[in-house]
Amino acid sequence: MTITETGVPLFALGRGADPDSERGVDCPGELPPASDPALVERARVAKERLGDRLFVLGHHYQRDEVIQFADVTGDSFKLAREAAARPGAEYIVFCGVHFMAESADILTADSQKVVLPDLAAGCSMADMATFDQVEECWEVLEDAGADRVVPITYMNSSADIKAFCGRNGGAVCTSSNAERALTWAFEQGQQVLFLPDQHLGRNTAVLELGLSLDDCVVYNPHRPNGGLTDEQLKNAKMILWQGHCSVHGRFSPAAVDEFRERIPGVNILVHPECRHEVVTKADFVGSTEYIIRTVREAPEGSAWAIGTELNLVKRLAGMFPGKSVSFLDKTVCFCSTMNRIDLPHLVWALESLADGKVVNQITVDPETTHWAKVALDRMLALP
Ligand code: 13P
Ligand code: SF4
Repeated sequence: MTITETGVPLFALGRGADPDSERGVDCPGELPPASDPALVERARVAKERLGDRLFVLGHHYQRDEVIQFADVTGDSFKLAREAAARPGAEYIVFCGVHFMAESADILTADSQKVVLPDLAAGCSMADMATFDQVEECWEVLEDAGADRVVPITYMNSSADIKAFCGRNGGAVCTSSNAERALTWAFEQGQQVLFLPDQHLGRNTAVLELGLSLDDCVVYNPHRPNGGLTDEQLKNAKMILWQGHCSVHGRFSPAAVDEFRERIPGVNILVHPECRHEVVTKADFVGSTEYIIRTVREAPEGSAWAIGTELNLVKRLAGMFPGKSVSFLDKTVCFCSTMNRIDLPHLVWALESLADGKVVNQITVDPETTHWAKVALDRMLALP
């Protein structure tokens, strides 16, 4: 188990701290080292063979064994910008999930090839909003008389949802610019349809824009009319899609209380994909880049309980041993799809590229690319 110099374990609420806690806490949360040390050398050699033709992007939730080969690491906003800023790279290898690789393909030239080392690295939240469901929702809104709605989609959505937003006067946002995107949207129209993460939408609307919880309704794509009346659809300022992140949805208000009881003065720092009742109890809320910056700038000896994906929290605990960094849940909580990208897949992708064979290329069709880029460019142009 990782224990920082301050003596507080990474799983402060886990094993040994709570005899009644649920099944699974016995796992110490350590991933085994890269299965074959020779793979590290093979990845290094393949990268060297590819030289400047290759650019590797790594999201903060990636495993350490993968992140060590990233030319740049970042949150989804930073990585989208980095992809757009590398016109010279022939191959962009995206160590992240499918929607991020799609965005990279949209923002790069046709001649550049974006590769996702494991095609099974998807995102359960992005899968919660399909194009057909969103089209149907749009018709429901029109029929209800809600005719000045601006669609905003979180980066964590498929390319065709981004294209839908581009085509219908909307934009993309990420967890680091959601407030600016919503402010922009309310300048364009009277209501916002926020896809697909209800928590980011609600947290931003209520905590950053000053709207009330009553201004928000949740549209359930599995129920007729989204489970809402025409009046509700017409009067709500925020129409939140019923989607969520299964990783961030695990953090609970009870864990916040427990931490405050056990570690007086602890700072609770969470990602805005967490539930509203967790975010309102936290001291600090922000994207993965914000989380890293906040811990980096914190004084030595300070204590932090962090509600985001475990690879990142573990990395922070290792980077700042003079601060106590703990995980804000009893149980081990990696993002299973992010974790699909492991060293064997990365080595396979890099060696294939070095041998002239493009594998797992992510391509978005030209029509979808056009409209998704409109939505992404609106985001990149936000003040
Ligand atoms: P950010 O990197 O934008 O904070 O997003 C977190 C996330 O869940 C990515 O899948
Ligand atoms: Fe999707 Fe959540 Fe995993 Fe991010 S952490 S890729 S939102 S499931």
